[in-house]
This record gives sequence, C-alpha cells and structure tokens, in this order.
Amino acid sequence: MKIIMLGAPGAGKGTHAKGIVDKYKIPTISTGDIFRQNIKEGTELGKKAKSYMDAGDLVPDELVCDLVVDRLQKDDCKNGYILDGFPRTIPQAEALTEALKKQGTAIDYALEIAMEDQAIVDRMAGRRVCAKCGATFHAVNIPPKVEGVCDNCGGELELRDDDKPETVKKRLNVYHEQTAPLIEYYKKQGIHHAVDGTLGVEGVAKAISEILG
Ligand code: AP5
Ligand code: MG
Ligand code: ZN
Repeated sequence: MKIIMLGAPGAGKGTHAKGIVDKYKIPTISTGDIFRQNIKEGTELGKKAKSYMDAGDLVPDELVCDLVVDRLQKDDCKNGYILDGFPRTIPQAEALTEALKKQGTAIDYALEIAMEDQAIVDRMAGRRVCAKCGATFHAVNIPPKVEGVCDNCGGELELRDDDKPETVKKRLNVYHEQTAPLIEYYKKQGIHHAVDGTLGVEGVAKAISEILG
C-alpha cells in the first residue's frame, strides 16, 4: 500500500501517519523529518535546507526529489510506504509519478487531511516536539504524561523552529500557492480522499481506517 499524506502544515499528517504505520507496518518517509535530522547532524543538505525552512519557504525541488526516489528503493519499502510532506509541488508529483511508472507501480491513496487556516494557526501554538526522537505532542489535544517530557524517550519537549505564528502564516500561504494544486492532480488520477482534520485524533484516525480498509 503506497500512501501520500496531503494537507496544510499542522493538519496532522505526521500524527496520523504514525497511526497508519502502527496498523499496516509500512515505513513513513517524512521529508521534513529528514531535513530536521540533517540540520541536527550539521550535514551539507541540512545547511542548505535550514534557511528555507526557517523562512517558511519550500526547499528547492532538486534537493528533494532524488532524495525521496532513492529512499523508495530501500528494502523496507517493498510492501509500501507513507509519504508525509512529499510531494509538495506539481514538479515533485510528476517526478514521483514518473519514477514509479518506471518500476511499474503507482500511488494507491492520496489522503488529504482538510482544515481551515485559522484552526491550524490556533492549533500550532500548542504543538510540542521531542528534541531527541522527534515525537509530536500537543499541549491540549495530545498532552505528554509529564509536562515538557517525551513519553517515548524522556527527551525534552520544545517548540519547532518554524512554529512561530508569522512563520506558520507564511507556510500556509506557500501551501495554498504551491501544494494545494496537488489535490486536483490526484483527483484526476482518481486516488484522492479527504478527511475532516477537525474531528479530533480518534475521529480522524477512524475516518482514515474507513478509507484504507
Ligand atoms: P514538514 O515537517 O513536512 O512540515 P509541514 O508540512 O509544515 O507539516 P507539519 O509537520 O508542520 O504538520 P503535520 O501536518 O505533520 O501536523 P502534526 O501531525 O505535527 O516540513 C517542514 C519544512 O520542510 C517545510 O516548510 C519546507 O521548508 C521543508 N520541506 C519538507 N518537505 C518538503 C518538500 N517535499 N519540498 C520542499 N520543502 C520541503 O500535527 C500538528 C499538531 O496538531 C500537533 O501538535 C498534533 O499533536 C496536533 N494534532 C494532530 N492531529 C490532531 C487531531 N486530529 N486533533 C487534534 N490535534 C491534532
Ligand atoms: Mg509533520
Ligand atoms: Zn522523544
């Protein structure tokens, strides 16, 4: 099963990808997580990506496409995967479609978590991420057992660098301009499905399982 998670920044792509991973035992490939890991490790890729990410812009397509296409060749992807945060532009989607076509395969589901901008801005202020393992929590909706401490690894929870309200607004604008056109792209392929992102964690998870079966 090959799945793309679509939706604005903060709609819940990462959170709900995790639920799918637990159920279907396929890996998640999150380009945002890959970049954040590279920034932490101080790699060349991380240095290049950081300025774009901090500004709320997209990292250029040429830094993203080969990275993902290479990752999909790995052994753990043979039964499927979830793409979280890729593709994010029409050229990225076309590169993915072409790469898969060469292997004789295609994406099965483009799952959109749909949410209005204002609800996202309100929600993002409460997001907390683990500095050590990257697990995501929410101060109100998904609180950790102990405030400020990761349930999984005991790491410290912090705000993400790009979660400042001005940067969130910039990311939403970039989403509407460059990423939202993918909804039409995948509708044309007949694989687009939308769920209402305001349903809460249980509600969204249930709606997703109904689609995936
Ligand atoms: P990326 O890391 O992908 O960020 P994003 O798309 O902006 O999305 P987020 O991770 O912010 O949100 P999410 O939808 O995963 O929501 P979450 O589950 O955390 O990308 C970051 C940057 O990297 C980009 O800006 C760009 O610069 C660069 N980049 C990455 N990929 C790229 C690409 N392909 N091309 C170019 N550049 C790229 O949930 C949000 C909060 O809500 C959490 O606190 C969570 O606990 C809570 N929550 C989640 N679901 C629910 C629910 N159902 N009910 C209540 N609360 C919920
Ligand atoms: Mg995410
Ligand atoms: Zn952790």
